[in-house]
Amino acid sequence: MASITMRFLAEPSTVNFGGKVHGGTVMKWIDEAGYACATHWAKRYCVTVFIGSVRFHRPIMIGDLVEVEAHLAYTGNSSMNISVEVRSGDLKSGELHKTTECLIVFVAVDADGKSMPVDAYSPSTPGEMALAARAKAHLDASRAAGARAAASEAHARGAASAAITSAIDASSISAVALDTAAVAASGRDEHHVVPEAAHLRADPDVAERDREPGVGRKP
Ligand SMILES: CC(C)(COP(=O)(O)OP(=O)(O)OC[C@H]1O[C@@H](n2cnc3c(N)ncnc32)[C@H](O)[C@@H]1OP(=O)(O)O)[C@@H](O)C(=O)NCCC(=O)NCCS
Repeated sequence: MASITMRFLAEPSTVNFGGKVHGGTVMKWIDEAGYACATHWAKRYCVTVFIGSVRFHRPIMIGDLVEVEAHLAYTGNSSMNISVEVRSGDLKSGELHKTTECLIVFVAVDADGKSMPVDAYSPSTPGEMALAARAKAHLDASRAAGARAAASEAHARGAASAAITSAIDASSISAVALDTAAVAASGRDEHHVVPEAAHLRADPDVAERDREPGVGRKP
């Protein structure tokens, strides 16, 4: 079975602050339908590895009949790429409208949580083939966007660290420039005085001894 459909009523306990069904509850239903579809296909425990391309088209009202359909779009080695559509409507009218759609990927795992191969699924009807192509295009685009975001974050981190390094270099250069300027102002040989100047800053007795006679010396 490559698809499953769950049907139930939207209970009052699922209400959000606007009086309709909470978006997080809809995501939970999507995950449950995807899980049932994947586990039934793989015939072993499966975990969610990715959820994307979620679109909330319209709200679901409390008391509505809800239908959540999960359809296997294509399989990889261990992954099952599933398209989920949520429909809902008033029981009295009997009409259901698409409210949410989403792509969700499950991976079959063993008892240690290690991914395991699954049977390949071959879409056979034109509708199934179109669904597989659409799901693949969405998931490829989403993974490419994720890879681009990761690369640009790494680039930004590299640029920030280069900026910090050059700021540190610049401040070292300024410190040397200040020392050199101080030496030039005192008229002493910079090669000898720069290290000495640093030493003097650290040793007040030497600073006192080296001071020019009469200048700031205690009588
Ligand atoms: C699922 C899990 C076992 C996979 O680990 P892994 O085998 O090292 O991961 P891999 O990179 O080899 O990917 C495994 C499959 O997931 C697919 N996958 C991984 N990231 C994906 C993504 N962002 N989008 C779509 N598919 C993805 C890979 O393409 C691969 O598919 P394939 O075997 O058909 O080629 C591991 O990621 C995990 O435990 N995740 C946490 C699951 C979880 O806690 N879910 C929530 C509660 S159920």
